[in-house]
Amino acid sequence: MSEASFTVRLLPHGGAFECSGGKRLLDVAIAAGYWLPHSCRDGSCRSCHLRVVEGEVSGAEDGHCLTCQSQPLSDLTLDAPACRPRPASAWRRRPRG
Ligand code: FES
Repeated sequence: MSEASFTVRLLPHGGAFECSGGKRLLDVAIAAGYWLPHSCRDGSCRSCHLRVVEGEVSGAEDGHCLTCQSQPLSDLTLDAPACRPRPASAWRRRPRG
C-alpha cells in the first residue's frame, strides 16, 4: 500500500513540493530544492520551527511544527520566511583533485 501524497506550499516564497504522509517535511523540502532553517534534525534545537498556516501535520503545537520531525496529514501551507531555493552550487559535485 502506498502512502498518500500531499502538496506543501511555502509562504511567502511561493514554492511547493509533494510530500508523502510517511516522510518528514524538512527532508523532502531539501530534496525538492528548498532550503529551510534547521540544525540538529532530531527535534531538540527548534531552529526548524515553522507556523502552520493551513492544514494538519503530526506533532503540531499551538499552530507550529518542527519540520525535521513532522509529517503531513493533509495538504499544507507553511509560513517559512527564511525559505530559499537551494543554491545551484550545492547541486554540483566538486571535481576530484
Ligand atoms: S532541526 Fe533541530 S529541532 Fe528541527
